[in-house]
Amino acid sequence: MPENKKVALKIEGLNKTLGKRHILHDIAFEAYEGEVFGFLGPNGAGKTTTIKCAVGLISMDSGKIEIEGKDVNKDFEGAMANVGGIVENPEMYKYLTARQNLEQYARMRDGVTPERIEEVAKIVGLSNRIDEKVGKYSLGMRQRIGVAQAILHKPKLLILDEPTNGLDPAGIKELRDILKHLAHEEGVCVIVSSHLMSEMELMCDRVGIIANGSMLGVYTLEEMISSSNGATTDYLIKCSDVNRAYELLENDEGYEKKIVNEELEIVAPNENAHEIISAVNRKIILADIGLYEVTKREKKKLEEVFIEMTANGGDQIE
Ligand SMILES: Nc1ncnc2c1ncn2[C@@H]1O[C@H](COP(=O)(O)OP(=O)(O)O)[C@@H](O)[C@H]1O
Ligand SMILES: [Mg+2]
Repeated sequence: MPENKKVALKIEGLNKTLGKRHILHDIAFEAYEGEVFGFLGPNGAGKTTTIKCAVGLISMDSGKIEIEGKDVNKDFEGAMANVGGIVENPEMYKYLTARQNLEQYARMRDGVTPERIEEVAKIVGLSNRIDEKVGKYSLGMRQRIGVAQAILHKPKLLILDEPTNGLDPAGIKELRDILKHLAHEEGVCVIVSSHLMSEMELMCDRVGIIANGSMLGVYTLEEMISSSNGATTDYLIKCSDVNRAYELLENDEGYEKKIVNEELEIVAPNENAHEIISAVNRKIILADIGLYEVTKREKKKLEEVFIEMTANGGDQIE
């Protein structure tokens, strides 16, 4: 656990039943100021239900949720003063301009100045479009003005439920950059839910994984990546005489080699993979064998690791 980190959101032992179904089972995690925290899980895992509990939209059966140290059950207003959020779509009046929408919203919050409205428009990159009607906005722009609205009152915690749904790649990148800026430059704790690891990979510092209403774990991105990479690096070599190349290397120690589909496969420990592959290449070239191609074999993608983790219901990363 990082030191000197201020906990913005703390969830402990959260249980929730909807209808007759026990949806959330002892959900627990913490998210810090200054990080983008990905809340990752397949559809139906319980992300929205958890978020609704955290932002006070629905009650919890048992458990404790604190926002900036304020208990949502005991000090609801104190807790909510520090949260901004978008659950499902941002609510906007389409016939009003973005500025009018923000002004409208500001009336419900204390201390939002006209300068702050300019400031949030700048943060989300919409300063020059702020006096256009929201009805003319693209979905991406609407999502960004939704973020502007959610951060108007300078919350320490911003929670967005699947904010990139329906956005095109350019819109997703813009939103990602805004959220990273808010976390890393302005010290906000940004929590983003998603069902796509590939998306989390590009913006999150840590991910908390939920499946079937239970937390599987919370990992830094580095932990996820090193667990998916394993301990070895695999190379594939195409050359003019694969059998002769294999014979040259046959008695070498410290790595594995075999012929697969007319290519030479080299499996080297990560620590000295570079030394090994350069020695192998040198031998092949010095033997006058034509070296056509050396490629690193694709390891499992993080997306596959995530799908495997959530499919078997909870094997954890060491
Ligand atoms: N009002 C409800 N009544 C009964 N079940 C519900 C209700 N809302 C959601 N669920 C169920 O709770 C589970 C978690 O839903 P949700 O939190 O929306 O998941 P996610 O956001 O991760 O896709 C799903 O199986 C869903 O069908
Ligand atoms: Mg959801």
